[in-house]
Amino acid sequence: MAGSRGGFSSRLGFIMAAAGSAVGLGNIWGFPTQTASNGGAAFVFMYLILAFCLAYPAFMAEILIGRFGQANAVTSLQKMSRTVFQKRFAFVVGFGGIICAALILSFYGIVAGWMMAHTIEPIAKLVGSDATANWLVSFSFVRNLVFTALFVGLTIFIISRGVEEGIEKWSKRLMPMMLTLLVLLIGYVMTLEGASEGLNAYLNPDFSRVLEPSLLLSALGQAFFSLSLGTSVMVIYGSYISKKENMVTLGAQVTLIDVSIAFLAGLLIIPAMYVAQAQGVQIFAADGSLLSEDTLVFTVLPSLFTSMGSVGAFIAIGFFALMSIAALTSSISMLEGPVSYVVERHNVERKKASTYIGIGIFFLSVLIMANFSTLFGLVITISTKYGQPIVAMLCCVFVGWIWQRNSLLQELKEGHQLVEEGIFWKIWPIYTKVVCPAAIGMVFLHSLS
Ligand code: PFF
Repeated sequence: MAGSRGGFSSRLGFIMAAAGSAVGLGNIWGFPTQTASNGGAAFVFMYLILAFCLAYPAFMAEILIGRFGQANAVTSLQKMSRTVFQKRFAFVVGFGGIICAALILSFYGIVAGWMMAHTIEPIAKLVGSDATANWLVSFSFVRNLVFTALFVGLTIFIISRGVEEGIEKWSKRLMPMMLTLLVLLIGYVMTLEGASEGLNAYLNPDFSRVLEPSLLLSALGQAFFSLSLGTSVMVIYGSYISKKENMVTLGAQVTLIDVSIAFLAGLLIIPAMYVAQAQGVQIFAADGSLLSEDTLVFTVLPSLFTSMGSVGAFIAIGFFALMSIAALTSSISMLEGPVSYVVERHNVERKKASTYIGIGIFFLSVLIMANFSTLFGLVITISTKYGQPIVAMLCCVFVGWIWQRNSLLQELKEGHQLVEEGIFWKIWPIYTKVVCPAAIGMVFLHSLS
């Protein structure tokens, strides 16, 4: 399958890589904490609906653009444009997604660095170096700098090796590791006192809350972030898929894996919160709201691990390693967006492009770390609240309004001759043309008010 620009060697390769991009801190940290602060199961229920009804069609639009164009996001979008105006529009959308991916990596790398530091902390404690352990979990510029550099370095290492040897190989190694850790941790937490109360809060929906606008907004935002939409990442991953593959099922499989792992992460985090509560750790503020998200992961769960005695150290290592691995398979996709653009459009060698772009993004992270209180939240808001929905919506507009229907059908038929007869072709085109852009636009406008 791999041509001169590289490609995934098998369908499993794509599934692992795309699921690796999708499954990240958003699933394991974002989803459970959003669930806990938005009414438990009511949020889960709406998340599932929105993920399949809005995020999956938008996801399909992005991977199809890439598979059709067999190139980076800008080139792929320009291939389906016919007029000069459309080509310019394609540039803005494609490049906008690439900038979005770079911005997300600049803050994601910092958070992933914290996860790595927390993975090492129990080891420092076990070998008796309390001062190092303390440094590792205390917020400081130097600690942040060291671990962000380490994490971005790993990301550059993988991306510089290319699609098959880097992205695919590492996703295939890291994803099963992550899943194993997740399942083992769930199994252990379920045996502890308080877990069943957490399970109850997680699985019993309060239907009176399902239509609350803030809940819907958070659920949709979460679904888009989770499927890495609006960042050019799925366009470029789509471009590495063979023309022999059935895109409809591939897309559905990745969405299903992403949603299932978010659900599994909820089975770990929410019961763990209640276990912590049963052990006297405070998880809800006086007004009944959940303590902030970072407090939960960096204070509540570590106090739970400490209270477990020596086994707690191993659980802590497992938990933060799980977070770090999930973050790494996502961060490589974020770097691939800009790297593929520079390699293909400016003829720069992959190793060079990965290193320079990676270092450039690292400098952006340094800027954020040096002005943490002002820039951290701002970059998150610009990239995930504005950038992602706008670019994702424009990708749907592209597929629905600019891509000729015949050519779109031809693309879908590659790998799935009978697509025209199935339900997908009956619903999805109109969905992408009208429903998705309108719904994303409405939710976006609402989030501004
Ligand atoms: N989907 C990732 C997560 O849930 O953590 C985050 C992400 C990856 C966002 C890649 C954007 C992106 F381009």
